[in-house]
Amino acid sequence: MGYLRSVTRHHEQISPQLNDYMAAHSSPPDAVLLELADETAQRFPDRVGLQIGPEQGTFMTLLARIMGARSAVEVGTFTGYSSICIARGLGERGRLLCCDVSEEWTSVAQRYWQKAGLADRVELRLGPALDTLRALAADPAFDLAFIDADKPGYIGYWEEIVPRTRPGGAILVDNTLSHGRVIDESSHDLNVEQSASLTTTPSPMSASTWCCCR
Ligand SMILES: C[S@@+](CC[C@H](N)C(=O)[O-])C[C@H]1O[C@@H](n2cnc3c(N)ncnc32)[C@H](O)[C@@H]1O
Repeated sequence: MGYLRSVTRHHEQISPQLNDYMAAHSSPPDAVLLELADETAQRFPDRVGLQIGPEQGTFMTLLARIMGARSAVEVGTFTGYSSICIARGLGERGRLLCCDVSEEWTSVAQRYWQKAGLADRVELRLGPALDTLRALAADPAFDLAFIDADKPGYIGYWEEIVPRTRPGGAILVDNTLSHGRVIDESSHDLNVEQSASLTTTPSPMSASTWCCCR
């Protein structure tokens, strides 16, 4: 359990005990993901919470695989944990476009794409994600999208990604509950208000959803 605790992110809506149970009953992260999580925690201790949790990563790998996804986009790559999980689910001929503004954080991701044998599946575009997305062809192309960057940008990312996602494709939007603040009526935080308008989006992510793939 120790190695899982080192990478598991506690969900505030779930008790620590239930969180431990979930981690213990999910497929564990492999050595590459564990090393990445460890390096991220060592080098960026104040930012390690930006990384998705291992069960979320496993969920995304399974979802991509089950859908037979071949083409995906990620907005918000950080040090690469979620991108590795998505790219793995795409299979050998898959392509993942990663959007981020940080050269420092994504340089870590690039090293781990190499270690994971995924470098030829992943393309990184550095710069504001809205510019990157707007510069893409307008035709539907993506099977799967993951939005996990600056919250004020979510509406714009959503508007650019939806028309570029094929019918039947999936769009995952991270942290739309804004740490529970979406139900705080006294909050006038712009991020929260924008997140609130996204909570009805068809994100299949749920802490109580279990997903298995043969
Ligand atoms: C929550 S982290 C992403 C975590 C990542 N998905 C993972 O699992 O490790 C958010 C990322 O969004 C990036 N970001 C913030 N504003 C951005 C923008 N305007 N365009 C592109 N990326 C942005 C940050 O540099 C950061 O790496």
